[in-house]
Parts: sequence; structure tokens; C-alpha cells
Amino acid sequence: MLITGADGEVGHGLIQQLSQRANHLPIVVLDIRKLDHALRSAVSRIIVGDILDNKLLETLSTEYEIDTIIHLAALLSTSSEFNPENAHRVNVQGTVNLLKLAVDQGQARGQPVKFIYASSIAAYGVPGLAAKQAAGAVCEEQYLNPITMYGCNKLYCEHLGRYYARHYRQLSVQRSVGVDFRCVRFPGLISALTVPTGGTSDYAPEMLHAAAQNKPYASFVREDTTIPFMVMPDAIKALLLLADAPREALTQLVYNVTSFSRSAEQLAHMVRSAFPGAEIAFEPADARQSIVDSWPAEVDDSAARRDWHWAPDYDAGRAFNDYLIPTIAERYRQTEG
Ligand code: SER
Repeated sequence: MLITGADGEVGHGLIQQLSQRANHLPIVVLDIRKLDHALRSAVSRIIVGDILDNKLLETLSTEYEIDTIIHLAALLSTSSEFNPENAHRVNVQGTVNLLKLAVDQGQARGQPVKFIYASSIAAYGVPGLAAKQAAGAVCEEQYLNPITMYGCNKLYCEHLGRYYARHYRQLSVQRSVGVDFRCVRFPGLISALTVPTGGTSDYAPEMLHAAAQNKPYASFVREDTTIPFMVMPDAIKALLLLADAPREALTQLVYNVTSFSRSAEQLAHMVRSAFPGAEIAFEPADARQSIVDSWPAEVDDSAARRDWHWAPDYDAGRAFNDYLIPTIAERYRQTEG
């Protein structure tokens, strides 16, 4: 199995989870940063490199037999707006390179490689707050007019996934093997163990991690800003459930997953209940505010529930009381100690 972006937030959670599975497949990781020390013993090979480096990917393809690729590497939504063209290279060309690696591997094995792609709520673009309120839970095919480079990249890569899964013909070879493309569209993710960088849903994890460290925090979005969220263990659960699902059970290539939708003020309230001294202010920044205003307040994940029995383990109450608060408090106690 190959995991890209392994040193990112989702990669961390995923490798931890996989390492606890009995007889898990050998894991090769690829990231531009060297994998966190704590995770190194869980993987077979760590490659520090760029998904834009075709030579590196070719070498990888000759050295390993890869049956599954979990492609997490990307520049997130806020980071991408600083250098959209670079984001396009990483997020789109990087994905094409990996899809081609999957094709080559599938061709060699005579069987399609599973390609698990982490897409995002950023693929949506709701035209204004009134529409956002009226939209309710948005299904996979609605409101696909993203306003960020990251969102455009994610949506386009979903299309590329469909192309490689269903329409890719290598006219030069006799029988071409496609890719077993499977995609989850994640909502905002919150981890107790890591803090994201460069995302626009980051106000939620940032306010929580700041409170746990007794630091004041100013949210860059308004109090009423509402999007769906999920805690990291559920995000990992979704990736692994989708990867393990029998191909014939999947009626679509792209699936929403969600757990709880809350406003920034409701999140702040939950954080203050756990950390009564928390100082949380609201100082909206126009550019980032307009990004989250274009994301739906709720998504409909009934297809994932039906096809691969998706259900989150953590609703908002459990997410805070059983996972986030105790794990974060412990994490910073250890750092202080
Ligand atoms: N969390 C991501 C971001 O904010 C959305 O996929 O960019």
C-alpha cells in the first residue's frame, strides 16, 4: 500500500490506525516531509519526495507491487489561494501522476489498483448565504461550483478519477486495465493530536487547541458560520471502510461523509464548557469567510450509509466529551510535563 501526504493530519491518523490492524499490508509512505518519528516503526519504507517527481514515481513503480494507493497529499484551501498555480500543479498534476502510477501497476498485475482519493467539501460552491440556508443537506451532485483553486482541483480530480476508472483507454496496449477509483468528500476535520495547516475549516481545531493551551484565540470566521465537521477517528474509519468495501456494492465513485454541523459560536460554546477560562473572540477575515460561506452547512451522506454502511462513531457530544477534550488535555499535559 502506498500513502501519499503521509505526514499530514489524515496520514498520521491513518498510519496509527493501520498499524493496529493485525497482518496489515506493508506500507510505503511518500511525503515531502520526513514522517513523524512516532510513526516510523509502523511503516516499511519512508520516501521523502515530491508527487511531481516522475522519476521518483517510476522508481517506486519498479521497486514495489502496489495494490492500493491512498492519495492524501494536497495543498489545502487557504494555502492554495496564496499561489493558485502552484496549488494546481501539486493538487492536479500530482494526482494525475499517481493515477498513472496506478494504471501502470494495474497493468502489470492484470488487476486494477484501488485508488482512494480524499476530496473535500470545498468541491461545493453555494451561491450566497440565503442559498446556503435554503439548501439543507446537499447531495454529491448539487452545487458543484467551487470558488477556490483547491475546490476546483478537488472537483476536477474527482472527474479524472471517473475518467481513469471508466473511460481510460491506452490505445497502445491490447487490454487496458483501469483504476478502482473511490473517493470520499470530507467535511472539516478535527484531530485531538495534530493541528492542520492552511485549511479554511481550521478555526474549529485552532480554537480548541488554543483553549487547551490557555491561549486566547480569534476566529477568522463569524459566529454564525456553519459547516459540517468530523473528528479524525471517523475520517480514518471512512477511508478504511470505503477501501474495504466490495467493488460491486459501490454505486458511485464519489461519496459524501459527515458527522455533525455546528456554527462557530456553538463550537466555541462547547470549547468554553470544557475549558472555562477559554478566551475566544470573532474577527472575521473577508477572504477566508467567503470561502466557508460557499461551503454547504450540511451534506447528505446517505449514499455512503447505504452502499458501504458508513456511520460516524462520534456525534458532536461524543466527539467533544469522549475524544477531543480528554485527548487534547492529555496531549498538552504531556507537553508541559
Ligand atoms: N479542511 C479543508 C480546508 O479547509 C477542506 O477540505 O481546506
